[in-house]
Amino acid sequence: MLELVPITDSIGTEVRGVDVTGDISARDFDRIYQAWIDTCLLLFRGQKMTPEQQIALTRRFGEITTYTRSEFNEPEHPEILVLSNITRDGKPIGSAYSGRVWHSDGHYLSDPPAGTMLYAIEVPPEGGDTWFANMMAAYDALPAAMKERIDDLKVVISRVQSRPYNYPDRPAPTPEERAAWVDMRHPIVRRHEVSGRNALYSGGNVPWRIEGMPEAESAPLVTFLQEFSVQPRFTYCHRWQPGDILLWDNRSAMHRATPYDYEAYRRLMHRTTIAGHLSTGSPVPVGEAIAS
Ligand code: SIN
Repeated sequence: MLELVPITDSIGTEVRGVDVTGDISARDFDRIYQAWIDTCLLLFRGQKMTPEQQIALTRRFGEITTYTRSEFNEPEHPEILVLSNITRDGKPIGSAYSGRVWHSDGHYLSDPPAGTMLYAIEVPPEGGDTWFANMMAAYDALPAAMKERIDDLKVVISRVQSRPYNYPDRPAPTPEERAAWVDMRHPIVRRHEVSGRNALYSGGNVPWRIEGMPEAESAPLVTFLQEFSVQPRFTYCHRWQPGDILLWDNRSAMHRATPYDYEAYRRLMHRTTIAGHLSTGSPVPVGEAIAS
C-alpha cells in the first residue's frame, strides 16, 4: 500500500509501497505527483529499472527532454544521461562529476527543466552524496521587508560570469562560447507553475547581477539570499544506496553533488530530465534571453 513519508520537516517525501516498474494507479500517482510539487523531492528506495522503464516513469511526470552533455547519453537510449566515473575501452562511459556547487538545473536556459530524475545503479561506500535545498521554504522564511524588496526583481543568469565560479580549473570562455551563451533574465522570486507558490530562484554561488541595480548593491543582496537559502533548516543530504531513485523539482529546489574517491570507487547513475513550461501547462517559459 502506498505510503508517503516526509524525509525531513522541510524537504522531501519517501514513497513507500510502490514498485515503479509495476502499475501505479492514477489515484496513487496523483498523490505521488502532489508530494513532489509540495515537498520538492521524491525518494523511491530498492527499485530496479531498465532504461525503458526509467523513461516511462519519467514521462508520467511530464515531457522528457535532454539539454546537456549529449556525448554521455546512453547510446541506445539518448533520453538517459550517464553520470559515472567508469571507463570502457579506455573511454569514460559518462560524465564523471556534475554540479558541485548549489544550482538549479538549466538555470541558464530560457526554459529550464521542470524536474530531474536520478537512478543509482552503483554507488561508492563513502562520498558522492547529493544535497538539496527547499527554495519555497527559504522564500517563506524571509522577513516581510526583504520579500517586498525582491518580489519584482529579475536576476541576470550569465554562463560567462558563472564559468570561473563553477569551473575554476577550466579556461575562460572562448569568443565562440561567449557569443553562444546568451544571458538570461529570470524572476528572482519564481512562482511555481503548478502550485502557485513562490520560491527563491537566486542560484547558489555566483553573485548574479540584478537587472537595473548597481553591482555594489546587487552582489551583496544576491549573496545574502544564496546563503539564507542553504541554511540547515531548508536542506537535506542524500546518502545514496543502489536502487534509489530521486526526483527533484528544479522550480522549487536547488541541489549540489559532492565528490568521492574517483580512483578507488565506482559510481553509476542514470539521469532523465523533465521539460520546462510546456510539460507543466504554463503558456510561456520563465526566462527571457537578453539581447547582447
Ligand atoms: C546532478 O546534479 O545532475 C547529479 C547530482 C549527483 O551526481 O549527485
